[in-house]
Amino acid sequence: MSQFKPRVMSGARTTHQLHVGNYWGAIRNWIQLQDQYECFFGIMDLHGLTTAYKRAEEIKIYNRDIFADLIAWGIDPEKNTVFIQSMVPEHIELFMYFANLTPMGWLERVPTWKDAEEEAKASDTHNLGRFSYPVLQAADIAVYQGSLVPVGADQMAHLELTREIIRRFNHLYKGKLPEPKPLLTETPLIPGLDGRKMSKSYNNTIFLTEDEKTLKKKVNSMLTDSRRALRENPGVPEDCTVYAFHKLYSTPDDLKWVVEGCTTAGIGCGECKAKLCANMEAKTKIPREKKKELLNNPKTLDSIIEAGCEKARMEARKNLNTIKDWMKLR
Ligand code: TRP
Ligand code: SF4
Repeated sequence: MSQFKPRVMSGARTTHQLHVGNYWGAIRNWIQLQDQYECFFGIMDLHGLTTAYKRAEEIKIYNRDIFADLIAWGIDPEKNTVFIQSMVPEHIELFMYFANLTPMGWLERVPTWKDAEEEAKASDTHNLGRFSYPVLQAADIAVYQGSLVPVGADQMAHLELTREIIRRFNHLYKGKLPEPKPLLTETPLIPGLDGRKMSKSYNNTIFLTEDEKTLKKKVNSMLTDSRRALRENPGVPEDCTVYAFHKLYSTPDDLKWVVEGCTTAGIGCGECKAKLCANMEAKTKIPREKKKELLNNPKTLDSIIEAGCEKARMEARKNLNTIKDWMKLR
């Protein structure tokens, strides 16, 4: 149907450092996809600024931090195109073409807008940028002719709108932009330290590349199954945040040890947390060193970032010229 070789396009909205929820929800997936597809991965700071516009300077620092994290955890910046959104102005140019053909009603219906208006007003983010968020997202994808978009279930409404916008574009201008399909990926629900969904706004996160001491402190503060308030009472691992993390970081043998020990009160929560800590640390140690090395060599990191953004700009410019040809705007 489409003449395009499937190309993966995805992005992470940046407002803070990456946390382990971001990793298991998206980044880990990217790491796997890079072997199979030509991939474009964006650090979406313009999207971050829709709510974090008052701390632009901080966002700039997180852009670098996230770039370093992505490389440290296994995204290859040579094999893929990894870039920072605000460094590729073509996104905004295409955004405007899309904005004009997007009826207000389409945006008013988007759940992340419709259901969050009161909260947006309260947090001073009831703004045009936030309203038009999905239009920019559509431009992010189309500017690279992305045809596969790995997203979590929470992004399905945005992706559906992207498809509608692209359909309308193709219809109006006889364009041939691919209609992107979601690559819906099974993502485990990552609880935060308090058992609610991990989110920076709940202040319950573990950062992806936490230092060892903080990691320990945070794991020790995790909510456990309340049945085990007394050491001699057995518990139910499925009702415990610690176990949810064991499932991500521990071997089958360790998992068996947890389930047996917990349900028979054979182990205490302290031991169980210590094991988790050791397993998380084992997975974090090497990426942490790699990240530190990148951040300690700002010139090297800068040149990697610049090369990624340049690669993105070249591709985006080329596509945008084609888009303007379709629109008879050149
Ligand atoms: N909205 C996405 C999120 O919050 C981030 C994002 C921005 C994105 N642009 C994108 C994801 C383009 C996929 C494709 O997770
Ligand atoms: Fe949770 Fe482990 Fe304690 Fe069981 S033993 S309640 S799984 S921390």
